[in-house]
Amino acid sequence: MEHKPVPTQDIASRLVLNPSTLKGRTAIVTGGSSGIGLGIAQVFGLLGAKLVIVGRKADKLDEARSLLAETDAEILTIASDVRSYEAATDVMSRTIEHFGAIDILVNNAAGNFHCPFEKLSPNGWKAVIDIDLNGTFNYCHAAFEGLRQSTFGGRIINISLAQVLSGWPGSAHAASAKAGVTTLTRSLAVEWGPHGIRVNNVLPGPIENTEGLARLYEERGQAEKELERVAVGHFGQTDDIGQACAFLASSAGNFITGCDMTVDGGRWLKRSWT
Ligand code: HXC
Repeated sequence: MEHKPVPTQDIASRLVLNPSTLKGRTAIVTGGSSGIGLGIAQVFGLLGAKLVIVGRKADKLDEARSLLAETDAEILTIASDVRSYEAATDVMSRTIEHFGAIDILVNNAAGNFHCPFEKLSPNGWKAVIDIDLNGTFNYCHAAFEGLRQSTFGGRIINISLAQVLSGWPGSAHAASAKAGVTTLTRSLAVEWGPHGIRVNNVLPGPIENTEGLARLYEERGQAEKELERVAVGHFGQTDDIGQACAFLASSAGNFITGCDMTVDGGRWLKRSWT
């Protein structure tokens, strides 16, 4: 199923934050070449941030670069897998070399698929834990020194899930990984508060034009049922998540740390996930 990114002009027309909200800040977005990560990068670029986009596939990074060029942002793309700690440290070095600072880190890269637990192979479990949880560890840990030195005050935004509280039948692997991410966020908010680093979770609901919606709902014929569970009656857009992240990354978020910002149109209130 093909999913096209939202045109940058459409996102620009929906922005409510001042275009200089993130001016001068350097943001690293993992999984930033498509879906929610790309939406976050588009919003950040439109708000004046310099962008470091990390993704596994060079061709997708090239496409993202063309789209993001419309924001007028300075862009560095890096083909890298979040599962490697050494590669994460290399991303930090290259970011400092290119832009001179690391101000914002968005841990968005994720892997997920629907699979009943008894059918999930040990390697399937490991792949998702490695990407979602260990990948977040790798980037938070490797970015510490850069974020500590940020003149704006460092920011980490971890993309998590409301299902970490309820559990997620059919996606136990992803819910378990994101539960780890959620508590990592809260632990770091306290440990790194004295270093001026704010650490928050953003919890997206079902978002149009994403692989997550396709894999978990559309390809299984479950999209209509899922839509009925969204209180506001429609799926979200990638820039809904982008604007929430931008708020937390900006000076508006100076006194916000360790929080879960749920951006899901009220989806979590209807707790059935199957
Ligand atoms: C069962 C599966 C599977 C599936 C993969 N595996 N897909 N098992 N059902 N659909 C198993 C494989 O058989 C293998 O185990 C193991 O997982 C690793 O698979 P690989 O393909 O070798 O791994 P890799 O290439 O590293 O890919 C990682 C991945 C992949 C997570 C499996 O799907 C991926 O790269 N995903 C990234 C994009 C993504 O998932 N986007 C959606 C995020 S949605 P064996 O035992 O055979 O070796 C999200 C939130 C959504 O996070 C919120 C929705 C509202």
